Amino acid sequence: KFIKRRVKGQDLAVRKSVSILKRAFFNLSGSQYSRVSNRPKGVLFLAGPTGVGKTELAKAITELLFGSETSYIRFDMSEFSHEHSDQRLIGAPPGYVGYDVGGELTNAIKQNPFSVVLFDEIEKAHPKILDIFLQILDDGRLTSGRGETVYFSEAFIIFTSNLGIYEITPEGRKIQRVNPDMPYTEVSKRVMEAIEDYFKFKISRPEILNRIGENIIVFDFIRPDVATEIFEKMLSNVLIKLKESHKITINLEDKVRNVIREESCKDLTMGGRGIGNKLEEVFINPLSELLFELMPPKNSVVIINDIFKENNVWKLKGTVHSIK
Ligand SMILES: Nc1ncnc2c1ncn2[C@@H]1O[C@H](COP(=O)(O)OP(=O)(O)OP(=O)(O)O)[C@@H](O)[C@H]1O
Ligand SMILES: [Mg+2]
Repeated sequence: KFIKRRVKGQDLAVRKSVSILKRAFFNLSGSQYSRVSNRPKGVLFLAGPTGVGKTELAKAITELLFGSETSYIRFDMSEFSHEHSDQRLIGAPPGYVGYDVGGELTNAIKQNPFSVVLFDEIEKAHPKILDIFLQILDDGRLTSGRGETVYFSEAFIIFTSNLGIYEITPEGRKIQRVNPDMPYTEVSKRVMEAIEDYFKFKISRPEILNRIGENIIVFDFIRPDVATEIFEKMLSNVLIKLKESHKITINLEDKVRNVIREESCKDLTMGGRGIGNKLEEVFINPLSELLFELMPPKNSVVIINDIFKENNVWKLKGTVHSIK
């Protein structure tokens, strides 16, 4: 329930991650191999299109497991594309520059072993970094350049990837391999194929696939009904914030609300991120303009009764009413 409140739709992804979380709770992950193990509490591999809730799920899991979103360590793997970038994670060996600062990953786990570690866009990492992942998944420990060993037995590891979403044509053009017109089963099949192809053939590291195979979750595109849910949640976040910080209540007339919703949910190729960006353009920016113009006093109600485009910029009209 907690996760569903934050991650809309994506029923399969949510269900599967909840079952992995239950295993994590009793520390049963990997217990068939050995009773004394430092293997991470849990491992998830989240794949799928952009802006569909992968990072949102990772944040929800962090909050659920460790009580706050701040127990969350994120590595953007596109910054780890050279051969020596493993030194950024585990630290440089003695005699090398950076030896004294240690590794970002080993430092973070040493400081707080109760963490969710998120490796975003794993396909961008240099294949050498994958050795570090193997070691975490198998042994649950890493030795830093300074010779300190850190343990991952209390950590939850999440990888995300956009593998399978795009492909490069023989002429070198980047095209979409999956699109929002396909049913989920097709999206899922194509993405899984691409992930397998990548680890088995492109980088010849099938052993990675063996470790994460069961934990791969393919997210769906944001579908229109889910888009509406995400939109309503985002809109209410904006209105609640105004009420809390400025004691101003915004009332949207139905026709205004409908235009904002339609515009925000029109293009779903960028998922929830697209909805958020559009909401900003259609509502948040013109609302800021309007409030600045009206300067409503505290405890007033602003009724928004018109929305229109002027010189390609969205505008809102409204009136201020005070509460007696
Ligand atoms: N299923 C969803 N439920 C609720 N909100 C969502 C969902 N999908 C996307 N959003 C909203 O869109 C924003 C972007 O989503 P998120 O960061 O989870 O994308 P992502 O799947 O990690 O994409 P990327 O592959 O680009 O990193 C979030 O801040 C969230 O507000
Ligand atoms: Mg993300």
